[in-house]
Amino acid sequence: MMPVRLGMVGGGSGAFIGAVHRIAARMDGRFVLVAGALSSDPDRAASGAAELGIRGYDDFARMARAEAARADGIEAVSIVTPNHLHAAPAAAFLRAGIHVICDKPLAATPEQAREIAQAAQASGARFFLTHNYCAMPMLREARALVAEGALGDIRLVQAEYLQGWLADPAEGKQAEWRTDPARAGAGAIGDIGTHAWQLAQFVTGQTPASLSAQLSSLVPGRAVDDDARIALRYGSGARGGIWVSQVAVGQENGLSLRVFGTKAALEWRLTDPERLILSPKDGPARILTRAQDRSASYRTPPGHPEGYLEGFANLYSDIAAIIRGDSSYVDRVPGLDAGLSGMAFIAAAQASSGRDGAWTEVGP
Ligand SMILES: NC(=O)c1ccc[n+]([C@@H]2O[C@H](COP(=O)([O-])OP(=O)(O)OC[C@H]3O[C@@H](n4cnc5c(N)ncnc54)[C@H](O)[C@@H]3O)[C@@H](O)[C@H]2O)c1
Repeated sequence: MMPVRLGMVGGGSGAFIGAVHRIAARMDGRFVLVAGALSSDPDRAASGAAELGIRGYDDFARMARAEAARADGIEAVSIVTPNHLHAAPAAAFLRAGIHVICDKPLAATPEQAREIAQAAQASGARFFLTHNYCAMPMLREARALVAEGALGDIRLVQAEYLQGWLADPAEGKQAEWRTDPARAGAGAIGDIGTHAWQLAQFVTGQTPASLSAQLSSLVPGRAVDDDARIALRYGSGARGGIWVSQVAVGQENGLSLRVFGTKAALEWRLTDPERLILSPKDGPARILTRAQDRSASYRTPPGHPEGYLEGFANLYSDIAAIIRGDSSYVDRVPGLDAGLSGMAFIAAAQASSGRDGAWTEVGP
């Protein structure tokens, strides 16, 4: 397969997730990074591009136009800017016919989300959203087990994503914009809550119909939520819960998912990502390892640990295959629908919390 020519917006020096995307994109040799508008600061954009040996731009709109006009221009772009700066570049590249790989959450506001949706629907290019955890092998296996009925009917779903790094007033580049409502749009609910929401949806195949949320800002003076407790009701009658926090001291990236059905239960934790515990109602629990992942979403033999970066790379590899015309796995790669669902989740949680936890329908 010819590697996909890739560009990047954001991800300059000192940035977090841009470097992760670059590693993920090159891990399986399916992308080659050739251009970038890496920073809003022109000098940093230029020095970052020079360091990476790629064509540098000081402005993403100019980059979209220039790359679309080149015979050897980029075919896809990764957008790894703060949340309020997803929509403008996404729309610019989609209008230029360039595939977009955007990080989550979809946007900072519903208006920005609509701008992306309209541009994606009008474009021949595709839109992908990097909810990376769902591409980890044992979560793909968990989804397969639920789909084939190994759990019976789903009754209970519990997803958690606990961090402690924002337990004090924010300091540093990443904390600063994440605690600014104008740039983040929402706090923990958007930053990590959308991951928990998407993961529960991905594994169970079900979307909650309504929720009751309590969002709190526990650090004095904080203008966004840093803790969210959400009860979920599914149309099937199942019940669920999401707890996300960025003030849970001692927690690093405590992502976990538990699903309980009429026949068996599943449990997965990011701290031990290569083990999936399957507990049948009438028998001993079984520990499934990567050897039992039927999607074979890995590179090394089981027992050689793979994790976060490899999961991210699984997503990139599927995206490259889709771009090159192989749609076999399109249903396991999050896209615009996942992004809009995440935005509907944020909106419903904020509305419910504003009415003291009143049950609120999750919009389309
Ligand atoms: N999938 C995940 O697990 C995951 C993890 C972390 C962050 N994210 C998401 O990735 C995005 C970035 O987060 P981060 O932690 O890397 O942020 P960051 O602050 O570390 O990096 C943001 C980068 O965007 C650049 N930037 C800002 N405005 C720009 C502009 N106009 N043009 C070009 N570049 C510009 C900044 O200079 C910086 O390089 C956010 O949407 C976040 O939610 C996802």
